[in-house]
Amino acid sequence: MKRIDAQDKLARKLGVLIVGLNGAVSTTFVAGVMAIRKGVAEPVGSLAQMGRIDNGRSNGDGEPIREFVPLASLDNLVFGGWDIRDENCYESAISAGVLNKEDLRRVQTELEQIKPMRGVFDRNYVKNLAGSWTKNTQDKSLIVNKLRQDIRDFKARNKLEDVVVIWLASTEVHKPVLRIHERLEDFEKAIEGNHADISPCMLYAYAAIAENTPFINGAPNLGPDIPALIDYSRRKGVPIAGKDMKTGQTLLKTAIAPMLKARMLGLRGWYSINILGNGDGCVLDDPQSFKAKQESKLSVLDGILKPGQHSALYGNFHHKVCIDYYPPSGDNKESWDNIDIFGWLGYPMQIKIDFLCRDSILAAPIVLDLALFMDLARRCGLSGVQEWLSFYFKSPMGSSEHDLFAQLRNLNDALRSMKTIISSAEEESGSRLMSNEMRL
Ligand SMILES: NC(=O)c1ccc[n+]([C@@H]2O[C@H](COP(=O)([O-])OP(=O)(O)OC[C@H]3O[C@@H](n4cnc5c(N)ncnc54)[C@H](O)[C@@H]3O)[C@@H](O)[C@H]2O)c1
Repeated sequence: MKRIDAQDKLARKLGVLIVGLNGAVSTTFVAGVMAIRKGVAEPVGSLAQMGRIDNGRSNGDGEPIREFVPLASLDNLVFGGWDIRDENCYESAISAGVLNKEDLRRVQTELEQIKPMRGVFDRNYVKNLAGSWTKNTQDKSLIVNKLRQDIRDFKARNKLEDVVVIWLASTEVHKPVLRIHERLEDFEKAIEGNHADISPCMLYAYAAIAENTPFINGAPNLGPDIPALIDYSRRKGVPIAGKDMKTGQTLLKTAIAPMLKARMLGLRGWYSINILGNGDGCVLDDPQSFKAKQESKLSVLDGILKPGQHSALYGNFHHKVCIDYYPPSGDNKESWDNIDIFGWLGYPMQIKIDFLCRDSILAAPIVLDLALFMDLARRCGLSGVQEWLSFYFKSPMGSSEHDLFAQLRNLNDALRSMKTIISSAEEESGSRLMSNEMRL
């Protein structure tokens, strides 16, 4: 249901419930928002905060996105969530080692107040972790009820109307879509029957949708990306999006591949390797969890280069992706790419990239944008898979578009459509107000 009106111009709070609240990405995101609120940092990397959009009437400079559409203000974000370890966000941010101690001390008091609710954990889905702070039942129907109650309690405690839920927890093992994931009725029966193929991420997603709350999946595991939950989100009028945030190597890949294609340069092979030493790297050291990540990293090149249409250039390239867990690197991931290309008369050339990046520093602004845009989408009455948010994902739900620049165009088009919805809602409420005044 559409809920955009003049009220949106007033301060409204937005709850951000994070699954995996104590992880590296989550704590970097929350600490970052707090630092920005205090005026000691800028929201670098956030399109929603720093980007501009062509509004069709300016002198070509565009208008700041955050003025073009009514996004929640950073001052009004309220954080909470679930984790399977019982620590406050300050302790976790210190142990994640992404932000330095001096930066964290500036927001220590605020971070110490944020503590996780008990998580839903199943070791069969994450082999390299053990959960100690979990809901004390394995009954999936009961778990759904508890998660729904958590969302309601969080809203009531913080006097919130609007909440989004985002999965930033560890990557679950790779699983195919099965019959029980196809129809909502079968999926609900499988929850009641405690079926082993209903993962924790699916339970969080189901609970969020049941509570009319947008759900975002930042990891590569299936979660809401099954027909039953897509159908449920449409029926409930709730937007969902995912999956696997596009941060480092894949971000580069989806910017470079369109360039090769634009110049009709051929590709013989693309070898990508990452070394990372954070908690995510440890989880991905398990081959089943890595498979989920690999699937999402591999899908992008075919989508951009379209070998079927350009067989002479892209009909036979070799694409390989590896991730190695190397603890000394911590969160400072290093990714190497060796790209074998060919040009005029088939002469070979190579591109070598060594990207010394910081995983969570690249992911945090994506989390912010996704939370703000999904909240906007819900208030504009959008439901089901939000393909226009593909810009942020390695393996975007509902879309085979991987070209970063095409994805950005789609995102801007969607914002312009939402602007139209907002303007007509404002006009409607303006004329309602006027006619009320005339009656008085
Ligand atoms: N950092 C990036 O660039 C990036 C990019 C794309 C996707 N991701 C994904 O984001 C996720 C988070 O990455 P990270 O580096 O913060 O990992 P992390 O290991 O630091 O954090 C994961 C957190 O999730 C918690 N957790 C695990 N299972 C849970 C469950 N069932 N319920 C509640 N909490 C649970 C863990 O205790 C931990 O605190 C991973 O799935 C990763 O693949 C990260």
